[in-house]
Amino acid sequence: MSDTLTIALSKGRLFKETLPLLAYVGITPTDDPDTSRKLILDTNHADVKLVIIRAADVPTYVEYGAADIGVAGKDVLMEHGGDGLYEPLDLKIARCRMMVAGKPEAADHARRMRIATKYVDITRRYYAAQGVQVDIIKLYGSMELAPLVGLADRIVDLVDTGNTLKANGLQPLELIADISARLIVNKAAMKMKHVQIKKLIALLSAAVAGNK
Ligand code: ATP
Ligand code: PRP
Repeated sequence: MSDTLTIALSKGRLFKETLPLLAYVGITPTDDPDTSRKLILDTNHADVKLVIIRAADVPTYVEYGAADIGVAGKDVLMEHGGDGLYEPLDLKIARCRMMVAGKPEAADHARRMRIATKYVDITRRYYAAQGVQVDIIKLYGSMELAPLVGLADRIVDLVDTGNTLKANGLQPLELIADISARLIVNKAAMKMKHVQIKKLIALLSAAVAGNK
């Protein structure tokens, strides 16, 4: 008998894009988190469970061992710091870019720029590395609104098609990082459930290669 393997996933985009990879390795959930209220989903394997949590909480569950494995955006991992985790595989799904964006006109250099973002640590590190002093305003979503109503000069947010920026009269200005979803593994689980996890990583690598 093998140990139970718990995989942390968030609803929506990451769940949808991870499903085909899991299917490729033979794992199918028995419920859909978009319609079910269950937070622990069974799969067709009695020893594989999925826990459904907020995207930003995935590294925390995996770091503390509440889940053995997780799927998290690189944006979330960069903001979390990635402590206590292995990041063995780029799943190459949910791809986008972390960017500075703003109105086309230049910002007023007479005062410090105000940057609105939910990625406070990433933004602080980015401007610190350039030696630019900025005021960071923490938001939880709809960052694109901030420059339109005078809350901030610029935003740091994810950009994919650029449609959200365009629809709000904003432009991508600087690239901070290319983003994709990563497989993350709890460090203790990697030792204790080595055989199961190594096998899953190998199968998922093949799934990623076949997913192009
Ligand atoms: P929550 O809904 O829990 O607040 P969230 O809004 O960050 O979290 P999603 O929008 O599903 O959740 O995003 C999950 C991950 O998908 C992000 O962490 C990021 O890595 C990636 N992502 C976000 N927006 C895009 C996008 N427009 N295109 C591609 N990938 C994206
Ligand atoms: C993300 C991100 C941007 C948008 C960028 O939001 O925060 O607003 O996608 O994508 P685009 O360049 O293709 O327009 P999302 O759609 O996930 O909404 P949410 O974070 O508010 O759930």
